[in-house]
Amino acid sequence: MCGIVGYIGFRQAKETILTGLKRLEYRGYDSAGIGIVTDEDVEVYKEKGKIAALERLIHGVEIKGTVGIGHTRWATHGVPNQTNAHPHQSYSGRYTIVHNGIIENYKELIETYIPNIKRESETDTEIIAHLVDHFSQKGLSTEEAFREVIGKLEGSFAIALIDGQDTSRLYAAKNKSPLLAGLGEGENIIASDATAMIHVTNTFKELKDGEYVVLDRENLVIKTLDGDVIEREVYSVDWDMSSVETGVYEHFMLKEIDEQPAVIRNIITQYQNDQGQLNIGQHLQGLKIPSRVYIVACGTSYHAGLVGKRLLEQIAHIPTEVHIASEFLYDQPLIEGDPLFIFISQSGETADSRGVLDQIKKQGFRTLTVTNVQGSTLYREADYKLLTHAGPEIAVASTKAYTAQIAVVALLSIYLAEQKGIAGSIDMFQELRTISTAMDTLKDMKDKAKHIVDEYLTDQRSCFFIGRLLDYAVCLEGALKLKEISYIQAEGYAGGELKHGPIALIEDGTPVFVLITDERIAKNIRSNAEEVVSRGAKTCVIAAEGLHEEGDQWVLPRVHPLLTPLVSVIPMQLISYYAALQRGCDVDKPRNLAKSVTVE
Ligand code: F6R
Repeated sequence: MCGIVGYIGFRQAKETILTGLKRLEYRGYDSAGIGIVTDEDVEVYKEKGKIAALERLIHGVEIKGTVGIGHTRWATHGVPNQTNAHPHQSYSGRYTIVHNGIIENYKELIETYIPNIKRESETDTEIIAHLVDHFSQKGLSTEEAFREVIGKLEGSFAIALIDGQDTSRLYAAKNKSPLLAGLGEGENIIASDATAMIHVTNTFKELKDGEYVVLDRENLVIKTLDGDVIEREVYSVDWDMSSVETGVYEHFMLKEIDEQPAVIRNIITQYQNDQGQLNIGQHLQGLKIPSRVYIVACGTSYHAGLVGKRLLEQIAHIPTEVHIASEFLYDQPLIEGDPLFIFISQSGETADSRGVLDQIKKQGFRTLTVTNVQGSTLYREADYKLLTHAGPEIAVASTKAYTAQIAVVALLSIYLAEQKGIAGSIDMFQELRTISTAMDTLKDMKDKAKHIVDEYLTDQRSCFFIGRLLDYAVCLEGALKLKEISYIQAEGYAGGELKHGPIALIEDGTPVFVLITDERIAKNIRSNAEEVVSRGAKTCVIAAEGLHEEGDQWVLPRVHPLLTPLVSVIPMQLISYYAALQRGCDVDKPRNLAKSVTVE
């Protein structure tokens, strides 16, 4: 769960790589390093901590060169310190390498090929560099040695390698870790994702597992492990620099919260044809109506799946189960009929979800991925794919990806209902337009969010979010958002369940956020709120227009009852953001987390 960049061209590699690494910092930020080809040598600089620490280390150091590699790390093998930071060099010093992933058989490889090696670090990565050196000393060219080693590695990897004796080329390879190649004029680049290359190019080539790429300034050649050249189409993204920079915002998270109305409008544009009809079917050709849907996801995407279940069941009348990927992996439920597995994942790289996709494909079931990242592993490997078109999401805490996932599953539900001939009266595009306007209003209520934080969360260590039905699903997301960025322990609970245990935790002043958007249970959740108030809790009620009462803290615009999560989550995102800010937390990069969890 690290990020890598490799550049060869005419720009100064140091700056080009650092810019890329900063955009990849969401993938891990416990140490960082660069290796730059200078007139002298391949110079390696690395430091514990975030990229800012590396920048401080090299501040004022002249490192001139137009070829280099870089790495931002989320430690797996070896503690986060300077020695374990990448790049690593081979025993002769000839090869310099960065790596994202885990080499599962590194101990066996040491025993078989380099039993007497003296390791500098505790990392598995270092072994890859030694092995390339070992095979080149046996007479193989660097490309042959690289290929030889790649073929022997088990596990996940995205690797970039510099040969200090021929610095006119870079070598890179991937297996189960993301890696993309970017094409420029007189320059080429590889990185863990497109955002890290957008300052160089917006034209890319996908790399698949088991492939490697050799890049020089003019060419970028993808090959199989047998050395056969693979022709791969290029594709472009329409992002610009503003998509990957905070601009006027202090943090990506707030920028991404604010982008949500535009994302919903973009989803409408993407999935509507010129006649105003739903065209999502063009991505689902040949898909038969499933007898059952299994949604598999993690974290926030799992929470979006909980909402997706209601949409698929209520709109398309398809029984739907939602599963946490890491649980499903080892405890697969009995599967009957002719199901469809839907993987929801912002990054499209989450290892737990990938594990289930692999497992399910082997059993011959149909798969659909809903993701924000074109070309990601889950995107590539599923039978069908739908993009969420939210643009790069950079803050570790997911916001716009969540609402985009729900909107896309809503459109999918309409499509399936149409295919079944049961399309009802919901004009989903119109409903989504209404949502985007409601989101516009809500996102501008920042002062209200700040005020709530001051009043309810100052100096608090724990709180509850309670709701019922769809509101419960949103409460789980609200609680996750708050805890992951502000470190306040937050529990999302079904209102009716409180009295079965957790109410014991309520004491004088415990903050309880109460969400009310469904008129069927408005009275019930209000009495759940009463139950906690009478035990000393301080409730903050977020209620939909028409269901609100005097004294409620936040009134939400009325939207379609199945789509309330798209608006009710916004106050929760804003409250989480300002709570983290009030506590001086690193909002975009909360401790211990990485955006893309590519290890199990
Ligand atoms: C929380 C968050 C995570 C992710 C989870 C799955 O804000 O972002 O819980 O939702 O790690 O990631 P993806 O969606 O990339 O599979």
